[in-house]
Amino acid sequence: MVNVDEFIEEAKAEIAEEIGDKHAVIGLSGGVDSSTAAALAYEAIGDQLTAVYVDTGLMRKGETDEIRETFDYMDSLRIVEAQDRFLDELEGETDPEEKRHIIGEQFIREFETVAREVDADYLVQGTIYPDRIESEGTIKSHHNVGGLPERIDFDGIVEPMRDLYKDEVREVARALDLEEIISERMPFPGPGLAVRIIGEVTAEKLEVAREANHVVEEELEEYEPWQALAAVIGKATGVKGDNRVHGWVVAVRSVESRDGMTARAQELDWDTLQRIQSRITGAHENVARVVYDVTHKPPATIEYE
Ligand code: XMP
Repeated sequence: MVNVDEFIEEAKAEIAEEIGDKHAVIGLSGGVDSSTAAALAYEAIGDQLTAVYVDTGLMRKGETDEIRETFDYMDSLRIVEAQDRFLDELEGETDPEEKRHIIGEQFIREFETVAREVDADYLVQGTIYPDRIESEGTIKSHHNVGGLPERIDFDGIVEPMRDLYKDEVREVARALDLEEIISERMPFPGPGLAVRIIGEVTAEKLEVAREANHVVEEELEEYEPWQALAAVIGKATGVKGDNRVHGWVVAVRSVESRDGMTARAQELDWDTLQRIQSRITGAHENVARVVYDVTHKPPATIEYE
């Protein structure tokens, strides 16, 4: 990308020309990519765009409200409350790939319902360059609305940011005046907190993971990590008050990276780590301990599943 203003004008022109007077849908995930693509497309075609945000229940703390506020100006924003349906579908499932598959499938089902309702002809996606490279490999089945075109016969798919890197997307987001909470937000995986919960996703583990991720994001902001996260990785014994508990083990991870392909675990100071530990064990009666992950990628991945 040579110049951000030029990019924006060209992308808008491309979107407007491609879609003409037809109708388009876009899936908003809360992340910077889809938010930026939605803002671009909305500037190009206004209410001919329906932005769909599916609340899977696997989102970060406060994310749904932030989306509602940020995109309040779009009359056509649709928020789908699907938390219970995702939990039901995930019940009993412990296999990481199966979990991703279930979430991807349910996401498409929810999205498809709206796309058919509004009779969308086009699909706009916030795909960026590294997504295209990663999906050529088979490291992990990435979740997006990729399966949708097989179910709905769209006239076309528009990917205005297909050649951009993440830092360039953030530049575009800033130039479009997107809220900082979105433009500067860490990447968050499509399957959400489900990949930060080892084994079955339950309401209790989700509650622990959501609060722990919030604590970690807040406490580590000043370290400017590429990603900082918390995962519920198992159970262990602890003492809470006068009782022994068999409670959750929460792993904290903070990494530096340029594109997520490789990453280095960050060195954090002891006081910060202790503050995180104290807030996470204090937030939920059933958290027994907090550990810090010092593994780089490779050999580990950034997420836990
Ligand atoms: P890993 O865990 O493979 O993650 O080292 C590399 C980067 O990709 C993100 N990630 C995902 N993003 N859908 C996404 O949209 C996914 O299924 C997915 N899995 C991992 C991860 O957060 C990190 O930034």
